[in-house]
Amino acid sequence: MRKPILAGNWKMFKTVSQALSYVEHLDGLLADIPNQSQADVVICAPATALYAVHNQAQGTPIQLGAQNVHQAEEGAYTGETSAIMLKDAGAKYVIIGHSERRQYFGETDESVNAKVQQALKHGLLPIVCVGEDLDQRNQGVTNTLVESQVRAAFNAVSADDVARSVVAYEPIWAIGTGMTATAQDANAVCTHIRSVLSDMYGQDKANLVRIQYGGSVKPDNIAELMAQSDIDGALVGGASLDPGTFASLVRNA
Ligand code: 13P
Repeated sequence: MRKPILAGNWKMFKTVSQALSYVEHLDGLLADIPNQSQADVVICAPATALYAVHNQAQGTPIQLGAQNVHQAEEGAYTGETSAIMLKDAGAKYVIIGHSERRQYFGETDESVNAKVQQALKHGLLPIVCVGEDLDQRNQGVTNTLVESQVRAAFNAVSADDVARSVVAYEPIWAIGTGMTATAQDANAVCTHIRSVLSDMYGQDKANLVRIQYGGSVKPDNIAELMAQSDIDGALVGGASLDPGTFASLVRNA
């Protein structure tokens, strides 16, 4: 019932020309994958490549996402990008509250919530990232922490808007480390996220929200993750940078 969503987060990689040749290559590879259209395939490109990728991806199954958005409508915020601008450049999705942004750029639960509201106001679908670090996991507070992140991110967001949103559970210790959560552990947290959403908005709405796992997802572990009851897709960093690897991941999902 929930359409799987496989999203590549390129982070701060790829020039415009590299992005264009990637999209052309990936499109060709996706064409050979049976049932590929049963999943949403999204590339979250750097801001400088969004418009070019949007044009290149027209008529292909590749959808476009951004990696961050500012919470204000417009204004004197040097260096920032508004939801209106991202939408205008062709983005459909936007990653919000990635742990790298929380860690290096001072994003908080409050700014994540403001960004989620701003994105939805302008028709961008948020991919809201939550997840614990290794200390928190070892202390056994993963569910508590993730619950507070989810509650804060969707504070004052309508049930219909939440149903259109995507949540990405990304344990920080699994990002870029080659250490993946076991599929069962990842699913347990995703199930908890859905139960929190159910408590906030009711089970019917919670059942519509797509929940991704992220953190060292590769072509050889995607199938087991996708087989879990509450994992509806993946947010993929390193393994999304090469079109052949990302296509293999889509094929195996
Ligand atoms: P890796 O797939 O490189 O671990 O990165 C995960 C991630 O941060 C996706 O947003």
